[in-house]
Amino acid sequence: MLPKTPLRNTKGMIGMNYFELNKEQLLKEQEALLEKYEEYRSLKLALNMARGKPAPDQLTLSQGLLTTFNDHDCFYKGEDCRNYGNLRGLSGMTELFAELFGLPEKQIYIGAASSLNLMFDTFARNMIFGAYKGATPWGQQGKIKFLCPCPGYDRHFSIAQTFGLELIPVDMTPTGPDMDQVEELIKDPAVKGIWCVPKYSNPTGITFSDETVRRFAALTPAADDFRIFWDEAYELHDLYEEHDELLNLYSELEKTGKTNMAYFFASFSKVTFAGAGIAMMASGKENMDYALGIISMQTIGNDKINQLSHLHFFGSAEAVHEHMKKHAKILRPKFEKVLEIFDRELAERGIGSWTSPKGGYFISLDLPEGTATRTYQLAKNLGVTLTPVGATFPYGKDPHDRNLRIAPSFPSIEELELAAECLTVCARIATAEKLLEG
Ligand SMILES: Cc1ncc(COP(=O)(O)O)c(C=O)c1O
Repeated sequence: MLPKTPLRNTKGMIGMNYFELNKEQLLKEQEALLEKYEEYRSLKLALNMARGKPAPDQLTLSQGLLTTFNDHDCFYKGEDCRNYGNLRGLSGMTELFAELFGLPEKQIYIGAASSLNLMFDTFARNMIFGAYKGATPWGQQGKIKFLCPCPGYDRHFSIAQTFGLELIPVDMTPTGPDMDQVEELIKDPAVKGIWCVPKYSNPTGITFSDETVRRFAALTPAADDFRIFWDEAYELHDLYEEHDELLNLYSELEKTGKTNMAYFFASFSKVTFAGAGIAMMASGKENMDYALGIISMQTIGNDKINQLSHLHFFGSAEAVHEHMKKHAKILRPKFEKVLEIFDRELAERGIGSWTSPKGGYFISLDLPEGTATRTYQLAKNLGVTLTPVGATFPYGKDPHDRNLRIAPSFPSIEELELAAECLTVCARIATAEKLLEG
């Protein structure tokens, strides 16, 4: 049982904009907040809003995957899925991904179970063998760079960092990466690519506008081995019937004749089982022929048993969409709870701003400049774990010390409510301190 602390009856605490308070008011507010903070501390909490993981009841939605073979054999169109072969994956699965993501079926590779794994391998291939047949490997070109829209996904940044590339930050805007910056930066032939989570971005939850997608398709980088890593991790993850629509980059690239400029990635990690779903990669025909030539040296084939059980379980793209509605039903109240608490506790006090995504897994909270680390520490001391400050920026450094990534999916709604309330108290203390410092 979680302890219930009625934060709402914050008697004596000021509900005015902190930035309009005088010193005396701020000191009084600080005193009341510290009292509240101590109350929370005495509860010895252990809450976590750091993990963008599906909650157990979301995973249970796919439990049926484990028993599909009770009713079906292991053959797919005459092929024994228990045996070697079929590098690209079952045709039913490539067709399913083609339909779900609007990609050419013949250029889809169903890899293992993690899309991050496919991204890492793609990076590694380009480093070792080059981005296309005859290209100088990225690893032999001296100092090379990668564009990192931020706040962004820490694991993307760390892949590029692991291979020794210099990470170049690009500002995220409400319509996607700042394309003026991107268009300028790609004039440098040392810039080899860019990370993108185009729909319900991690962590801002924003979806790239049509214009942004078109500008991506029209890029003319100085490096002919420049590649867009288009990670559609949250393409299927709408929270509401009225959801964001992402313009199809592949179709736009067909118009500009540049289908080899982008790699597309996605997975079922947050559709069925995390790290045990289905992952795919796609790109222009030349890129895929080239990649599969190398991949065929790496593996004889992937897990077709898992592919077949997913085909049995879903049967159609429509069934996947219906399944995602069940996820949304679980996730929606969690997002709404966090947003409700931010609105109630932070908005009128003028503290920070946050995104209200229509899908995905994260909310991005921007606190007043210079207060995120202090807020994080205060929360940690209460037993509330948040994603480390800076994780959403290259090299783990938030230049403004203001961004926190909030992951509402894993905790129960009761845990989430308490964690979000604690967080707002910590943010208010940190803001009051900052203002008192002058
Ligand atoms: C943007 C993004 N891409 C990829 C992943 C990981 O995907 P996978 O489990 O397919 O490796 C995540 C997980 O949080 C993510 O947020």
